[in-house]
Amino acid sequence: MTKRNKGGFLIDNLVITDYANEGKAIGRFEGKVIFVDGAMPGDVVDVRVYFNKKDFAEARIINFREKAAQRLNPVCKHFTYCGGCKWQHVPYAEQLLFKERMVHDTIKHMGKVDVAEWEPIIGSENEYRYRNKLEFAFSNRRWVPNEILTVAHAQNKPALGYHIQGFWDKVLHVDECHLQNEPTNAIRNAVYQYATEKGLSFYDARQQQGLLRNMMLRVLRTGEVLILLTFKENTPDILPLLEFLKSRFPEITSLNYAINAKRNDSMSDLQVIHYSGKPYINEMLDGLQFRISPQSFFQTNTRQAEQLYRKIKEYAGLKGGELVYDLYTGTGSIAIYLARYAAKVVGVEYIEPAIIDARLNASLNNIDNCTFIVKDMADALTDEFVNQNGKPDVVITDPPRAGMHPKVVESLRSLSPEKIIYVSCNPATQARDLQMLDDKYAVIKSCPVDMFPHTHHLENVALLSLR
Ligand SMILES: C[S@@+](CC[C@H](N)C(=O)[O-])C[C@H]1O[C@@H](n2cnc3c(N)ncnc32)[C@H](O)[C@@H]1O
Repeated sequence: MTKRNKGGFLIDNLVITDYANEGKAIGRFEGKVIFVDGAMPGDVVDVRVYFNKKDFAEARIINFREKAAQRLNPVCKHFTYCGGCKWQHVPYAEQLLFKERMVHDTIKHMGKVDVAEWEPIIGSENEYRYRNKLEFAFSNRRWVPNEILTVAHAQNKPALGYHIQGFWDKVLHVDECHLQNEPTNAIRNAVYQYATEKGLSFYDARQQQGLLRNMMLRVLRTGEVLILLTFKENTPDILPLLEFLKSRFPEITSLNYAINAKRNDSMSDLQVIHYSGKPYINEMLDGLQFRISPQSFFQTNTRQAEQLYRKIKEYAGLKGGELVYDLYTGTGSIAIYLARYAAKVVGVEYIEPAIIDARLNASLNNIDNCTFIVKDMADALTDEFVNQNGKPDVVITDPPRAGMHPKVVESLRSLSPEKIIYVSCNPATQARDLQMLDDKYAVIKSCPVDMFPHTHHLENVALLSLR
């Protein structure tokens, strides 16, 4: 039964039958697929439709008629509105089964590619506190969930937390988060208290006013803690705040700040000012040391990155004499990881500071058989490049979500290495690229690795062998 109500359609007694992509679940109403946030198969719910199209709709739960027998109580009080950790109500084993099925279906049905052996998904040992990096936003207005209207409403209180999913200008205040080890919650709450007591202004994204903008924290297994605070402008209020943090939290090993007068929040192009401690921190990954500066890229789940890299190494099957290309190398961590088992590794990446970090990390680990090259992958694999660097036996490719540029796929086809190991965070684009390689390469094995429990994200590793 449906009723129109302020804020959208209501559907009563919707039976939830399956999981869906993006952390949602689905039910059907009058032939239409209804994607529901926070639901799971076995739930019977009343929902409010907030997005309505001809063939599908998106809705939020407003009332439970029945709860699935295996439903868990979410650990976090900010569940659903925060937009992260969407599957806290789903047992982890079930999340893994769905992720596995999603990868298989995508590669089979979208890519129409045969995989000779599907290996079971590698789950994360830690379901919570697995992220080494978190970013929080300051906002002059706090948006709070309103159960009845299922939208968030502004309060005249400042917020320090996460952007509400899909809204660049709305921040949900967060006073607990289970994604990172302490001292993250203690630091974030102390900064909030300090800033409100001192009357510091929080950022107003619409007016582009207010001192406090963002706070990024890295908390590593080595115990090192890095903070990067960003401010709208340089004022005398900044240094006392940094001094407060330094004395209150001696566990901060690298304290940094930056001025961001731009419209957007991206930190990668800001000039970072080092305030105290070291200007970087170090993480350990399977016996290797990685130096991480405030703006460096580094895998956010170190323990699962280890699992991922071990799987890549297993698939590469290196005997010691091989030449390996590591495409989209980032800060070179896969290249450095494999360098111990190969004759030479060539890493390619188009962000120059990442390549500087890659070279530094190689020398930090006394690795001298890696070459790192700054190039756009679309133009990288020329004859000249291959003449200079040699023809690879094994290619590792780890592109961004968009997958490989068609020119890169074409270059791989003509380069014809014996093995390609394709690491992907987006099975849909991986399926597309595997299809383009299918007549030349057979997919021997594939193994998903869950880097992000309670979210729909994962990495999938595929081993391709020249036919
Ligand atoms: C998924 S990350 C891979 C990171 C790295 N392999 C690791 O494990 O840490 C993708 C990388 O590709 C780089 N990238 C994206 N597009 C590129 C392009 N067209 N040419 C070269 N590098 C690119 C990004 O800057 C990013 O570092």
